[in-house]
This record gives sequence, structure tokens and C-alpha cells, in this order.
Amino acid sequence: MSEQNLTSVLKEERVFAPPPPFSLQAGIGSMEQYQALCDEAKQDPEAFWARQAGELLDWIQPWDTVLDWEAPFAKWFEGGKLNLSANCLDRHLANWRRNKAALIWEGEPGDSRTLTYQQLHYEVCRFTNVLKKLGVVKGDRVAIYMPMIPELAIAMLACARMGAVHNIVFGGFSAESLRDRIDDAQAKMVVTADGGWRRGQIVPLKDMVDQAIDGLNCVQQVVMVKRTGQQVAFHPGRDHWWHDIIDCVDANAVPEPLDSEHPLFILYTSGTTGKPKGVVHSTAGYLLGATYSSKLVFDLKDTDTYWCTADIGWITGHSYVVYGLLSNGATTLMYEGAPNYPEADRFWKIIDKHRVSIFYTAPTAIRAFIKWGEKWPLRHDLSSLRLLGTVGEPINPEAWIWYHSVIGKNRCPIVDTWWQTETGAMMIAPLPGATPLKPGTATLPLPGIFPEVVDREGKPVGANEGGYLVITHPWPSMLRTVYGDPERYVQNYWTRYPGLYFTGDGARRDADGYFWIMGRVDDVLNVSGHRLGTMEVESALVSHEAVAEAAVVGKPDEIRGESVVAFVTLESSYTASEELKDTLRQHVVKEIGAIARPEDLIFTDALPKTRSGKIMRRLLRDIAAGKQATGDTSTLEDASILDKLRDA
Ligand code: WTA
Repeated sequence: MSEQNLTSVLKEERVFAPPPPFSLQAGIGSMEQYQALCDEAKQDPEAFWARQAGELLDWIQPWDTVLDWEAPFAKWFEGGKLNLSANCLDRHLANWRRNKAALIWEGEPGDSRTLTYQQLHYEVCRFTNVLKKLGVVKGDRVAIYMPMIPELAIAMLACARMGAVHNIVFGGFSAESLRDRIDDAQAKMVVTADGGWRRGQIVPLKDMVDQAIDGLNCVQQVVMVKRTGQQVAFHPGRDHWWHDIIDCVDANAVPEPLDSEHPLFILYTSGTTGKPKGVVHSTAGYLLGATYSSKLVFDLKDTDTYWCTADIGWITGHSYVVYGLLSNGATTLMYEGAPNYPEADRFWKIIDKHRVSIFYTAPTAIRAFIKWGEKWPLRHDLSSLRLLGTVGEPINPEAWIWYHSVIGKNRCPIVDTWWQTETGAMMIAPLPGATPLKPGTATLPLPGIFPEVVDREGKPVGANEGGYLVITHPWPSMLRTVYGDPERYVQNYWTRYPGLYFTGDGARRDADGYFWIMGRVDDVLNVSGHRLGTMEVESALVSHEAVAEAAVVGKPDEIRGESVVAFVTLESSYTASEELKDTLRQHVVKEIGAIARPEDLIFTDALPKTRSGKIMRRLLRDIAAGKQATGDTSTLEDASILDKLRDA
């Protein structure tokens, strides 16, 4: 996003107060209650978080210090011991929740399964023993590359139970991307499935794993679930069928007492430069963030059936399909497949069938629903819904209004939640029984979270002035480091404004203190709510022999938020053709995954560069969006390039 765009222009004046019946039953039912929590947190943040940690989590051993802050490295609840899977499972077995549905699962072909807390506990204990049997020990990394099936949640909870560090890779990533992530984390084991279902087709996960780990020494064992049933290669000694090996172990697995700061997982996310960063989260702080925010923002009740449509391969699935919900004893629904399979009403059908009461999805999905038409949701009874949510990117007010009226029947508050892989949990979001909503803003920070909008010098800006979004205090669920590269952690997040966490987002705060997120200020695209570094796509393109140089930018896309546009210069022995365009698109899919496929691919003789050789992406973004390239072009080395590009 260019500097001038930081002057925000969005004008949205509609305000939606929480419906009184909602406020009456809500945990936090008024702005006074919200304010009281904020005041408590502001007065003594550490005491506030200590109170939450004591009330919300079960501890095996209490902590000695709440926060040890050697900026920018935080340790929360040092000296304490706990087990995350015990917090998500065992503690619910001692009361009536034992036979409550923990997980309701629906497969794409229409099969379904429900696991009570008791049943989920049993499966998790057994898989913990499988991990141990296959030689995994505390601290080892386990890569998980799976479809959205219950075994995915079981595998992650089993890792947490014994202190193995999971590294979940989204099933849409290519073998190459999977390989990079397994290699960087030096995973000892991969848990996968023969395949997964997506729009009636099989995603050949096991084949991808075989390619990904070919020649990688770190991986010693592969466990696969039989899901789709097609033929897959089987390497005796290395490969194991889940259903075979799980029958060889018992279900006694005492939850390992783990230090608060024991690493829980690594999740790779895109950055501005180089390869994806392995964001590391800790046990206690992360679980506290996920538990606290789920309770407050979703206003969870024991009668709720909650559904988050995110894949567990992304942070949203970690925190808000699995951990934050199970630790609260909620019922969480998980769906394997596509929203438009077999028809465009699949989501509404699921809500109708399972009487879903809380529905959390992404703006990109909402824009697709709008395009497919109202007739699909209108076919179904959506009266069970009481709360809606969004995450992943700013929601445009039109989409918000559609969601509110067509899906929520003007009855359900919408929680627009701002957060990041790095923050672990929601940071800015309404409390649905208290906060008056305005379409397009994530509203106000959660109590205990301290965001600020600052200028280039790091000074807070005035109301309605655009600037950079930072967080001024450490928070429990913050990332602890970048795996294997603490220098990069410091550089990426803490150097631009010393002492402040830099989010990479632009924002403004309105006169009521509401935060309006304006998108990324760095070279990161947001495609369908997923972050993609322009560098990654460029490296993928340049790795093809035909490509001399590539520059990748985003262009606004009606459904996906942004789509990928690539400007490519060719090696002299190659000539531009439609066929070559297709080849290069396919190459990117192979290297990264379908999410990174360039929508537009433009061949050019040269790229616009400054005299010092930096590609001027700002100009490319304007061209990609079909706009006149505006702003300063005086540093451009060769001004004629712009005209050529426009004609390309
Ligand atoms: C964007 C997803 C506006 C933002 C949880 C952030 C949002 C990036 C919102 C993180 C929102 C996420 N409003 N923008 N409600 N939620 N974003 O790591 O740019 O995949 O920095 O985490 O998504 O993406 P990530």
C-alpha cells in the first residue's frame, strides 16, 4: 500500500447497537462492563492477566512470575506447569460435559461423525501413545499435512499432550512448500492421509508427502489416515496406517506437565523477504489468549454449536476451530470440503442440519456467497444463528450489510476480529453484547491489549489520521520467536519502532477510538484472507528457466480481496506466448500451491526501477489495477517503461 493511501477515505457512519436480548444474556452485556475490564487491565496488566490465567486455565504447578520481559523476548507465567490437552479434554471429563459433543464433523461426501469429550480424550490418548511408540519425544517436531478430518485435531492434541511441537501445513500447499516447512522445522514425523476430498476430487496428500520428504533425512516415520481409499505408495518401516498402529497401543496417557513456555507449535507464515517464517507459540500464553478471546468475543454458552469455517492449516483453525473452543468446553463443528459442493448452499445446509448458533468465516467467502445469490441461503432455516463473525481482511461495508441482513436476519451481531498468526489470538474485536458495531471496523481492543496508530516516527497520530498499527505492551499469546532465527524475529517485528510490536498493517482510529484496518503496508498480499509474500511468488517464477526477472503485486479482486499479478521479463532465448503463460502459472502452483497462481501474467521487456535498482511496485500496483500510475515517478530510471507496460 502506498504512503498516500494511508490517508484513509472510508466513510461509514451506520452504527448498530447490540440487540437488547443479546446483551441481556451476554457474559459482558454493556460498555460499562467492558470499560471496567479495560481499566483493570490498564492499571496493572500483569495482575489482570494473572487473574485470567488463574480463572480460565488449570495448572499442575502455579507460576512464579507473571511476565519476564527482556524486550522483545517475553516469558509468561515462568515456573508454572500445565498441559494443554488436559485443559482441552481431561478437565471436562470430571463433570457433565464428559458426554457433551466436543467435535461435530461433516465430511465433504456427506459422512459425519461426532466425538464427545470422552471419546475425543480416548482417541487423543491413544494417538499420544502412537507418537511415543514411534519414537517421538518431548520437543520433537511433528509435521501435520491433513484434510479437515477429526484425526487432524486428534493429532495436534496428542502432540500437545506429550510436548511434541506440531507444525501444521495447510493441505493446499504444494509438495515443494511442504518440503521447505518440514526441512526448516526438522520434523521427525509426518502425519497425513491418503487423500482428502475437495469439490468431489481427491487431493493426493500422501503422494505430496512422498515427494516432499524424498531425500530429507529428518523424517523417520509417516502415519497416514485412510480417508479416500485410493492406491498410495507404502514404504515399509517408514509408513504406518493410522488404523493399524492405533490398535497396538492402549489409552493410558498421563498428560505431561509442561513448562508454561514450552513451545506448542510452529506455524509458517509469509513475510516480506525470503522464505516463510516459522512463528513459534508457547503453551500457557497461547492457550490463555485463545481461551480468553473465545469466551469473550463469541460469548460462548454451553448450548452453542459453534462453527468456524477456516482450515486448521491456518492460525484461525488452530485457535478457533480447536484450542480456544475445547478449552472452554464448547461444541465445535468441523467441515472437510468446499462451500459450493455439491451445490452453492452447502454451508447453509450445514447450519440448518446442525443448528449452528455461532458462525465464523472470512470476508472473501461472504463476497462469494453474495455473488452466488440469496436464493441459496434462503432455502434453509438459519434461525439457530445468534452470532456471526469475520476474520482475515477488512470487510467491505456492503458485504457486512449483506451478511447482517441475509444471514443474520438483522438479529445477530457481527464480530469483525482483527489479529494475526503472530498475535495467536484476537486483539481488536467487539464484545457482541456490549460494543456498538460499525460495518467495516474491528472496533475496539480486547481488555488487556494495547494497540496504537503511529506515524513514521512512532508517535501516536490524531483521530482519523492514517498511520501504522503497533502494539505497545507484550501480551500472553504473542509469538515468542521465529523458529531457528531470533534475529529475524527482532528485525521483522521490533526494529521499525523500538519497543513497539509492528503489525505490518496500516490503520486509523476514529473519534470513538474504533480501529479501521487499512491493509498491509509491506509487500505482503492478502489473497482470500491468506497472506502471501510477493517475494515467495517472485522466487517461484524466477526458478523457472524461462524467467529472467519477476515482480509480483496485488490487484483488488471482488471476491478474493486481492489477486496475484505478475510482471515477467524473459530470458532472451524464450518468446512470449499464451502457452508459456500457462506453463509459468502451473509452475507457481507446483512451487507454492494454487493459492499463489497469478491471475494476470504480463510479459514485459523491463521492469520500472529506481536509479538504485529497486523495483517500483507502487507503479506496478497502479498499472495492475488499470489506474493511471500516480505519485512521484521522478526516481524512475526509464520513464518510457510505464507506457510500454500500460500497453502490454
Ligand atoms: C489481515 C489471520 C482487517 C491483516 C487471523 C493482518 C484483517 C493479517 C482482519 C493477518 C480484520 C486479519 N480486519 N484485516 N478483521 N483480520 N486481517 O496471519 O492484514 O493469516 O495483518 O492471520 O490479515 O493474517 P494471518
